[in-house]
Amino acid sequence: MAIQAVENTYWVLETDHTAYTLGLNRGGLLAHSYWGKRLPYLTDYPPAPSFDEQPFHSPSPGEFPFNRPAHLVPEEYPGYEDVKYIEPCLKVTFADGVRDVVLRFERAEIIDGARPELLIHLRDVHYPFQAVLHYRPHAAYDLIERFVTVTNAGESPIEIERIFSAQWHLPLGGQYWMKQLTGRWFDEFQLRHEMLNPGVKVLDSRRLTTSHHANPWFAVDRGSAEETQGEVWFGALAWSGNWKMAAEVTNFASTRVNIGLNDWDFRWQLAPGESFTTPSSFAGYTDGGFGKASHHLHDFIRDQLLPHGAQPHRVLYNSWEATFFDVSEESQGRLAEIAASLGIELFVTDDGWFHGRNWDNAGLGDWWPDEKKFPNGLGPLIRRVNDLGMDFGLWVEPEMVNPDSDLYRQHPDWVIHFPSRTRTETRNQLILNCARVDVQDYLIERLDRILSENNITFIKWDMNRNVSQPGWPDAPREPRELWVRYVWGVYRIWQTLSERHPKVIWQSCSGGGGRADMGMLQLADQIWVSDNTEPTARLAIQHGFSQVYPAAAMEAWVTDSGDRFLSLEFRFHVSMCGVLGVGANLLHWDERDRKTAHKWIAYYKEIRGIIQNGDLYRLDSTQPDVFWSVQYVSKDQAEAVVFAFLTHPMNPTRLQIVRLRGLDPQAMYEIEGFAGRRSGAAWMQTGVQFDLNHFESTVRRIRRVST
Ligand code: GLA
Repeated sequence: MAIQAVENTYWVLETDHTAYTLGLNRGGLLAHSYWGKRLPYLTDYPPAPSFDEQPFHSPSPGEFPFNRPAHLVPEEYPGYEDVKYIEPCLKVTFADGVRDVVLRFERAEIIDGARPELLIHLRDVHYPFQAVLHYRPHAAYDLIERFVTVTNAGESPIEIERIFSAQWHLPLGGQYWMKQLTGRWFDEFQLRHEMLNPGVKVLDSRRLTTSHHANPWFAVDRGSAEETQGEVWFGALAWSGNWKMAAEVTNFASTRVNIGLNDWDFRWQLAPGESFTTPSSFAGYTDGGFGKASHHLHDFIRDQLLPHGAQPHRVLYNSWEATFFDVSEESQGRLAEIAASLGIELFVTDDGWFHGRNWDNAGLGDWWPDEKKFPNGLGPLIRRVNDLGMDFGLWVEPEMVNPDSDLYRQHPDWVIHFPSRTRTETRNQLILNCARVDVQDYLIERLDRILSENNITFIKWDMNRNVSQPGWPDAPREPRELWVRYVWGVYRIWQTLSERHPKVIWQSCSGGGGRADMGMLQLADQIWVSDNTEPTARLAIQHGFSQVYPAAAMEAWVTDSGDRFLSLEFRFHVSMCGVLGVGANLLHWDERDRKTAHKWIAYYKEIRGIIQNGDLYRLDSTQPDVFWSVQYVSKDQAEAVVFAFLTHPMNPTRLQIVRLRGLDPQAMYEIEGFAGRRSGAAWMQTGVQFDLNHFESTVRRIRRVST
């Protein structure tokens, strides 16, 4: 049983290898008690901690007043109340001005079956306000999903100021470190590892989307975990808007990670009878190191979230870096001819195809083919692409509008703005307020028409600016609900279109990796990870992305970026580590380049099953940041593929040895380019040695053979 109750005061959630327990402590608070390796017996799990004795000796007789039990108990979902100064998960104001939310246990419910769930019902001791904490163990992935629903069962409105999805508690005591992903546009997903000290470490987004600057993911260890071993507690948030992660170390040696909607500028009016549900946070524990933590997330995302799951992704061509806005039937057709000859399977026309779009200063909002560039619509180009044996895909940026567009001239009030303030443009565009149902309906109608009238099997959905002046002047309710309603609106548009056009594969792009998260990956199968396609920069970006998201979701193009110092082969190898695409100006490629491309595209098609659906191993590097190696192993361990890259000049005494991983230790394997058959154990223990020169790379297939 995945969920067990002990005397209706203590609950144990078990996954294949882990357990998570919580219960009512002596003071009646719902407290966290254990998160770690699964233990043999129910009685092994510790009771819910109570701190009703003095935790230290008071110098004077009587009660020591500054730190009371409420501050010390690792509550599962603390509200702002009592003598307590830790980061709370919930902060509300009741209609009478009271700002203390005293939630106490009411009852628990266990749902058995294929999707087991524990529901803990809490209720305010005075006000008709309820919270239900949802816990879903995903046993095979060693993950726990948490989200919260609050309900106003009374007759007066309640104002919510903060509502997180979860507070994840690490075992009490000890020194923790946290891995996190930060960066900026053109430099997303940079992996950092830093010590958590007393205080609160906050990462967040105030940009309306997930953002390039940080990703809602954490992996916490005791400072000694490695890729292959060590205890790691990790988690993420499935949300594509403003989010916040607050990792707190209290002065009483308690470490916890809060994660959820950002409370920055957030307000929610919970009217009588209404409920509000947070996004889900998924978290897990492993003693198999950071690599295993990534596997759990990769497998879960691929099996449970991605709309098309393990369906293999086609090698695509994207016209952006070749033609920019200079898109026409003729220019695209010429590129398509060459793309098809290279073995490309999907041809995507990027920005520049729609009404009035000759540069980035006009057209967004007017989603129909430009009359000059496509006098007969997109039909002739799509037919030409299809005749060449390729599928056709299209770029859109639905949430945006240029002031120079028919849409904006008709509906200047549809954008996010404050009436008395400048509408600051970035990239000459403003953001349509997708919280508005009329805006949602317009976009659904427009995009549905394009998809219904044309044979389109792929959409790249872009979002090329962040918010400013976040106003919603005619909001029917609290205007700060914009932060959440906008994202719900985008989800609704996307979901409706996906349901009407189930075969379409969607890619989420926001000027590169500005909107990559577990919420997005329930709509989009792929992420455009960065606008930076220079391959050596990409190695670090892909390394960071792979901490959380599977290679199947990582679109990677070979472009002309880096061509002055990197061979085309190197550039292909880097992009082959995800879903291979090409975005170079094919008109500039000579016969030799085309042959190289043809070769590696054919090679990729043979190994893509292993890359997209296998296990990804970031191999230990003898020189981090200079020598990179990554391996993919099919789930049945019959096949694998290893990539190695050397960038900058290397210390010649350092050998490029990598120890392979994930092979069956007893089975025999052959590695392309290395003599002899050896056991998986041997390849994993002694490793293989590459001999790469500056800016060289290699890819080798590994096959299980019979002895
Ligand atoms: C963004 C995307 C690019 C391209 C351009 C088009 O920057 O990330 O890939 O689609 O927009 O304007």
